[in-house]
Amino acid sequence: METLVVDHPLVAHKLTVLRDVGTDSPTFRRLADELVTLLAYEATRHVRVTEWSVQTPVAPAKGVRLAQPCPLVVPILRAGLGMLEGMTRLLPTAEVGFLGMIRNESTLQAETYATRLPDDLSGRQVYVVDPMLATGGTLAAAIQFLFDRGADDVTALCLLAAPEGIAYMDQVFNGSGKPIRLVTAALDERLNEHGYIVPGLGDAGDRLYG
Ligand code: PRP
Repeated sequence: METLVVDHPLVAHKLTVLRDVGTDSPTFRRLADELVTLLAYEATRHVRVTEWSVQTPVAPAKGVRLAQPCPLVVPILRAGLGMLEGMTRLLPTAEVGFLGMIRNESTLQAETYATRLPDDLSGRQVYVVDPMLATGGTLAAAIQFLFDRGADDVTALCLLAAPEGIAYMDQVFNGSGKPIRLVTAALDERLNEHGYIVPGLGDAGDRLYG
């Protein structure tokens, strides 16, 4: 997996306030939304475009437009919903699919409880949004699901990632031959004994939605 940690003072500033235990839920939601738009700028660097010309008031101009089929954005419920609007602000024509997944807090295994995605993802670029990459179980299961439906180009946007989760993703997908990118605002130190990212920001779903 190709990992990009976005190194930008605005990202660092917003992430610091997001981490703060004193940040209330409305502020947390707003900052998560702002952060994902900054990450999306980097994450869409490889979005497919086709040549497209327009007529300016002065002369013809060569340009590009997003290629068809349009990209698919997949928030992983519940916490990923807090990143959806920030993502579609940059990709307003994207289609949106949903994956509902929850990590069992005893076993740390991901369980899927809802899927609402196009049946055929052949040739689609997919952007998965989920605030946390902890053990990697959730993201790996989500991406495997997308690959099984034919997706061949997946970029994940996570506000935070743990080294253990990145190592797990590499272990699962190395040799798959399919490109997977991760764009994140920070790579934290480690996971604690409960599978929480340290220093992290706590439970993103609870902080977004209570
Ligand atoms: C969190 C987070 C990820 C997952 C990460 O969701 O949003 O989906 O845990 O953990 P992992 O990398 O160890 O699998 P959670 O299961 O708490 O569900 P929620 O979004 O409904 O709060």
